[in-house]
Amino acid sequence: MFIRRYRGALCGYANQALSLPHLFVVLLEQLSISHCRIIEAAELALSPGVNLICGNNGSGKSCILEAVTILSRGRSFRSAQIADVIRHGEESMLIRAKSSDGDNHFNIGIEKTRHSTRIRVNQQDLHTQAALSRFLPVSVIDPSSVELLTGSPALRRAYIDWIAFYLFPEFHKVWQSYRRILKQRNLCLRVPAYLSALPVWTDELIKAQIRIQDYRDRSLLVLEPQLNFLASALLENHCLSVELTTGFPKGVELSEEAQRTFYAERRDSEIKSARTLSGAHRADLRVMFNQQPAQHTASRGQLKLIVIAMLLAQSRSIDIGHERKGIIAIDDLPAELDSDNKTRLLSTLRELDQQLLLTTTHPEIIPLHGSDRMFHVKHGVVTQQCNP
Ligand SMILES: Nc1ncnc2c1ncn2[C@@H]1O[C@H](COP(=O)(O)OP(=O)(O)OP(=O)(O)O)[C@@H](O)[C@H]1O
Ligand SMILES: [Mg+2]
Repeated sequence: MFIRRYRGALCGYANQALSLPHLFVVLLEQLSISHCRIIEAAELALSPGVNLICGNNGSGKSCILEAVTILSRGRSFRSAQIADVIRHGEESMLIRAKSSDGDNHFNIGIEKTRHSTRIRVNQQDLHTQAALSRFLPVSVIDPSSVELLTGSPALRRAYIDWIAFYLFPEFHKVWQSYRRILKQRNLCLRVPAYLSALPVWTDELIKAQIRIQDYRDRSLLVLEPQLNFLASALLENHCLSVELTTGFPKGVELSEEAQRTFYAERRDSEIKSARTLSGAHRADLRVMFNQQPAQHTASRGQLKLIVIAMLLAQSRSIDIGHERKGIIAIDDLPAELDSDNKTRLLSTLRELDQQLLLTTTHPEIIPLHGSDRMFHVKHGVVTQQCNP
C-alpha cells in the first residue's frame, strides 16, 4: 500500500474548519434513560466535568454509557443488535437528554423498537441518525477499544472518518455517495450485461475518492498535534505516530489521470474478483509505536494506553477554536493499567477539560473535585451520591 506522511503546516486547514456553522452541542446536562437493559428508568443530572458512575458488576454502569452512545450514534458500542439492549419484556427503549452549547439548549431524544427508530430534537423529527450525531460527538473508550489497533482496517477508517464527519459537514454526503458508486461499479464487474457502464462508474469513483482522501488528509493534519500531545502525556518516552495509506498499491498517485490508468490496467483482475480491489474503501491508518507497527510491538497495557491516547486525541481534534468539545465516555476505566499509568491518565483527563462519564467498580481511585458528580448504580437503579 502507498503510504503518505504528513508533516508541517496545519493552520490553513484548521482555519477552514473554524468557519463551519455552529453544528453541535458540547454538554449533556440531563440524561433520562428508560428500558435500557437492566435499567427500567433513570435520571442523571450530569456535571460538565467528571461524572463517576460506580457500582458492582452487572449493576448497570455500562448501560448508562450505552444509552449515551445510542443517542450519539444510533447504536450500542457493545451489541450489534438493538434487540439485545431493549429491556426484556419491553417493546421499546427511550433515551432523552437536555444538552447545551453554552448559549442554546436542546432537547434531544431517540426511541428505538426492534425495527424502528424515532429521533427528535426540540420537538421536531429528524430523519437521519447523522443529523442527531452532529449534536453529540461522543468518544467511547471501553475494554474492546484495543481492536482499533488489532482489528480490521475498517475500524481505523471509521476512526479518521469520525473526525472528518465533525470537521467537514460535506464529508458524510461524499462518503455516502462513494459507497453508492462503489456498489454500482461492483455490479458492473460482477454482471457481464452491465460491463459497458464500467468506465462511467470508474470516473465517478475516482472523483469521489479524491475528495475523500482530501478530507482524510485534512483530518489527519488536525489529529497529529493532538496525538503528539496525548502520547507525551500518557506514553512517557515512547514515540507514537500514524500513517495514512490510500487504499492503492505503493507508488500509485491519486490524480484522476493516474487512477484512470491504474483501473484500466487492473480491469481483468477486477472482473475476475468481481469487485473493486483498490480505493478509499481499502485505506488504512497505520499506528506506529517506536517506529514499529504498534499491534506487533506494544505490550497489552501499552496497547491500551495507545488506544486511549488515540481516542482522546480524536475527541480533541474536533475542538477547533477551543469552542466545541466532544464528550468522553470511558467504561471500566483503570482495568489493566498499573498505578503510575492510572495516575497519569486521571490527571491528563482532568487537564482535557471535557465532559467525562467514567464507570468503575473502584470509585476510591478517582478523587472527586468541586463540581464532579458521583452516581451509584445498584440493580439498574441510579442514585446520585453526595460528594465526599
Ligand atoms: N435486554 C436486557 N434486559 C434486562 N436486563 C439485561 C438485558 N441485557 C442485559 N441485562 C442485564 O443488565 C446488566 C448489564 O449491566 P452492565 O453491563 O451495565 O453492568 P456493569 O455494571 O457495567 O457491570 P460490570 O462491572 O461487570 O461491567 C446485567 O445484569 C445483565 O444481566
Ligand atoms: Mg460494565
